[in-house]
Amino acid sequence: MHIQKNISLKPYNTFGIDVLAKQFVSINSINELIDVLKSENHQSKFILGGGSNMLLTQDIDALVLHLNLKGISIISKSENTVLVKASAGENWHNFVLWCIDNDFGGVENLSLIPGNVGTAPIQNIGAYGVELKDVFDSCEALHISSGTIRTFNHQDCQFDYRNSVFKNEKKGEFIILNVTFKLTTKNHQIKTDYGAIASELKQKNIKKPTIKDVSKVVIAIRSSKLPDPKKIGNSGSFFKNPVISIKHYSALKQNFPDMPSYSVSENLVKVPAGWLIEHAGFKGKTFGNYGVHKNQALVLVNYGNANGIDIKNLAQLIQKTIVRIFNIELEVEVNII
Ligand code: EPU
Repeated sequence: MHIQKNISLKPYNTFGIDVLAKQFVSINSINELIDVLKSENHQSKFILGGGSNMLLTQDIDALVLHLNLKGISIISKSENTVLVKASAGENWHNFVLWCIDNDFGGVENLSLIPGNVGTAPIQNIGAYGVELKDVFDSCEALHISSGTIRTFNHQDCQFDYRNSVFKNEKKGEFIILNVTFKLTTKNHQIKTDYGAIASELKQKNIKKPTIKDVSKVVIAIRSSKLPDPKKIGNSGSFFKNPVISIKHYSALKQNFPDMPSYSVSENLVKVPAGWLIEHAGFKGKTFGNYGVHKNQALVLVNYGNANGIDIKNLAQLIQKTIVRIFNIELEVEVNII
C-alpha cells in the first residue's frame, strides 16, 4: 500500500477533469481498506470508484481511496436462479459481459453503463427499462467510523429512480465492498419494450432474442447516442428526468404539442430532460472545450481540458433556462464536488 501525493485525478473520472488529489492510495483488499481507515483516521477521506458519476470542480484536499477490489463468484444456484457476488472495483460492463458469457440473465439491458459495481447501487443505475434494483439481492458495506461490515438487503437500500439510502440518510457513512445479484439461469425475462430495442431486433430479423442479442442491441443504441467517455469526457445523464403534475404537463402541451411524457401515477408524469434541453436550444452547443452532446442533450461533455467550474456554470445556465421556458426545475444527477 503506497500513499502518493499530489496526483492528478484526470484518469480516474470519466469527465476527464484535471484536478489534484492531495493524497491518493489504491486499495486492493478489504484488509488494506480497514488498515488505511485506522492508520489515517486523522485525515478526511474521499472514496473513488469508477469516477463515472461526478463532476470535479476543485482539488481534493483529502486522502483519495481508489477502490480496486476485484472478484466475481457464484454464491449459490437454485433451479432457475443464481446468486452472483461481484466486488466493488469490478468494472460494471465487464461484469455484465461475464454474466452474458455464463448465460445469467437480468443485467443485459444495463450493458455499457460506465462505472464500477460498487457505485451502481448508490444511484440505482438504470437503462432501457431495467434498474439495478430489479437484480439486486444485497450488498456488504464497511461502516467508515466503526470499521464494521454491514449487509444491506433490498429493503434497507430504499431504491428509487436514480436514488438510494446511500445518497440520502447514509450518505458518506459506508463504503460498498461488494454486491450480490439475483440472476436467471433459464427462462430469461427478455425486456425489449423500451425505446429502440424492439425495432433494432426486428431490423436484424431476430425474432427470439437471447440475452446476448439484447446486450448487443443495447450496446449499439448506447454507442450511437451517448459519447464514449474514453474519447469525449462525460458523466452520462447530467440531470434526472423531472416529474411534473399532469396539470402542468397539459398546460405545457398547449405550446409544445410534441413534448413526450411517461406516466408515473394518476397525477404525475415524467418528461425527458433531454427533450427539454434540446428544445431550449442547447443540444450540440459548444462553448470552447465543453458543451452539450450533439446526439443526447442530457449529456454535458468535456472536449479537452475543460474546467469543472465551467461545466457547472453551463449546467446552471441550462437549469435557469428550463425554468424560464417550461417552469420546470431540473435536478442534477451527477455529484458535483
Ligand atoms: N430526447 C430528445 N432530445 C435529446 C435526448 C432525448 O428529444 O437530446 C427525447 C427522445 O427522443 C425520447 C426521450 O427524450 O423521446 C427519451 O430519450 P432516451 O431514450 O435517450 O432516454 P432519456 O430519458 O434521455 C434515460 C436515462 C439514461 C438511459 C436512457 C435509456 C435518465 C436521467 N437517463 O435517458 O441513463 O440510458 O434513459 O434507458 O434517466 C445515465 O443515467 O447516465 C443514462 C445515460
